[in-house]
Amino acid sequence: MLSNLSQQPEDKILALMAQYRADPRDTKVDLGVGVYKDASGHTPIMRAVKAAEKRLWEEEQTKSYVALAGDPGFSDAMVSLVLGDAVARDAVAAAATPGGTGAVRQAFELIRMANPKARIFVPNPTWPNHLSILKYLGMETVTYRYFDSATGAVDFAGMQEDLAGLTAGDVVLLHGCCHNPTGANLTLPEWQAVIAVLNDKGAMPMIDIAYQGFGDGLDADAAATRLVAKSCPETLIAASCSKNFGIYRERTGILMAVSQGQTAVAQDNLNFLNRQNFSFPPDHGARLVTMILNDDALRADWQAELEEVRNGMLGLRESLADELRKLSGSDRFGFVAQHRGMFSRLGATPEQVAHMREHHGIYMVGDSRINIAGLNVKSVPILAKAMIDAGV
Ligand code: LMR
Repeated sequence: MLSNLSQQPEDKILALMAQYRADPRDTKVDLGVGVYKDASGHTPIMRAVKAAEKRLWEEEQTKSYVALAGDPGFSDAMVSLVLGDAVARDAVAAAATPGGTGAVRQAFELIRMANPKARIFVPNPTWPNHLSILKYLGMETVTYRYFDSATGAVDFAGMQEDLAGLTAGDVVLLHGCCHNPTGANLTLPEWQAVIAVLNDKGAMPMIDIAYQGFGDGLDADAAATRLVAKSCPETLIAASCSKNFGIYRERTGILMAVSQGQTAVAQDNLNFLNRQNFSFPPDHGARLVTMILNDDALRADWQAELEEVRNGMLGLRESLADELRKLSGSDRFGFVAQHRGMFSRLGATPEQVAHMREHHGIYMVGDSRINIAGLNVKSVPILAKAMIDAGV
């Protein structure tokens, strides 16, 4: 039986992690996987998370099952964090999932159940695992233009042209903020225009929001998602707590389905999908998030620390853009300071990326995506010099 299996294509981001670990150079710089790191290269446990864990350890009385959709308190807290008061709470069905990836997977499966013929429009580029999961599920994908590598900005004209090909029943995957892998994001007027096309064509938005709080702030980063949710008849939202709560390994995410009058049936199907795929979702991370969001002191401390993280990344963006301006004598890398979130796509060729890895020990994804949080004061000039040396 097992001999029928063949090797799967490697996940480029995870393969890069392994390659980095195997490099013996102590000057190496890891700008690969999207995990936040402080200036010393450590991924800390956030203060509020530690405090909530301590409290949970003291107070939790049972580890028995919770519910197929997870703790309703978690859903309430996350619907409020992501959607604010954009839509009525009873317009949203929600289920906890194992991480944001779990939410993405359940969303695609829900779409397939509702319309097996739905085409999923995905940005070019997008997070590679979106494509991989869609392929695995046998769902049809259509790419739409998103990024202009010459300017480092969104190719909005191209995106609009491609979305003009939508038909009723299609789904458009959108990154709510902090686009992964490019760092380039739509402006709110551009979101308005996308909403107009979606509604005109009868297509449904699916928003992946994995980095809320890493771009312009918790509310600013959710603004587009809120606008879509209140402007379109139906919206799917896959949200992750991995990054903004720093609880990567706890696998904490949520899938929300916003509709007009379909909440009960959507909830029933979300519960069903959880039951089929893994039964009850993980609870530990979700419980910590709920405790933090519902406790004024913990929430204030979490937000303060998240702001430190966000501002640290903005500072690193500014210094990298400055350094590149100095070394290149031009403004052509100014986009690094304009981008938001954890990532920027630098526009280097795969050969230039390989050159930087081999000669300077700098590890970035092959499409030249860097994790800004992998940088620090010392490595910013090293990266800038390596980029110029590689001819970027
Ligand atoms: C990334 O894009 O690096 C993160 O979302 C981690 C992952 O699972 O790929």
